[in-house]
Amino acid sequence: MQHSILKIACCSTLLTGLVISNVQAADNSFKETLALKELALESDLLNYQADASKGEVLANQRCVACHGDAMLKMMSTYPNLKGQKGAYLFKQLVQFKRGERINPIMQGQASMLSETEMKDVALYYSQQTAVDLSQ
Ligand code: HEC
Repeated sequence: MQHSILKIACCSTLLTGLVISNVQAADNSFKETLALKELALESDLLNYQADASKGEVLANQRCVACHGDAMLKMMSTYPNLKGQKGAYLFKQLVQFKRGERINPIMQGQASMLSETEMKDVALYYSQQTAVDLSQ
């Protein structure tokens, strides 16, 4: 009897361990991508786990005016951010802020964002599905 209780205890510990390691496997830092290695970020920024819900709030406050579907239909040079890779979007924002990618509008926007906010908003847009703007 004692033996089987022990077995159950062991088993549930193992399962809990599996569940926890699965949760941890979702890495939203993009740190393994080449794009981020090129940016030579401080380790706390490199390891920062992006939060898409914070990114959504930010996107709705500061980005939707230009990157929302209505504006994208009117402005042929305004890029659609939805569905692009998170690491790519993040890298563009860092480069705008550093002046390594030149665009007066976006350099102004990026200069107001911290790098953690950039990761949040990049993750959020990467998880959205782009709509067909031709319709
Ligand atoms: C006033 C309009 C405007 C606002 C507001 C704005 N953007 Fe932009 N964004 C642009 C334009 C225009 C470009 C194209 C820049 C270029 O041609 O290089 C761009 C480009 C980008 C790119 C590069 C995309 C690519 O495909 O390379 C990213 C990433 C981006 N914006 C993110 C954001 C985020 C995040 C916000 C909100 C914090 C934001 N933008 C707010 C106008 C805006």
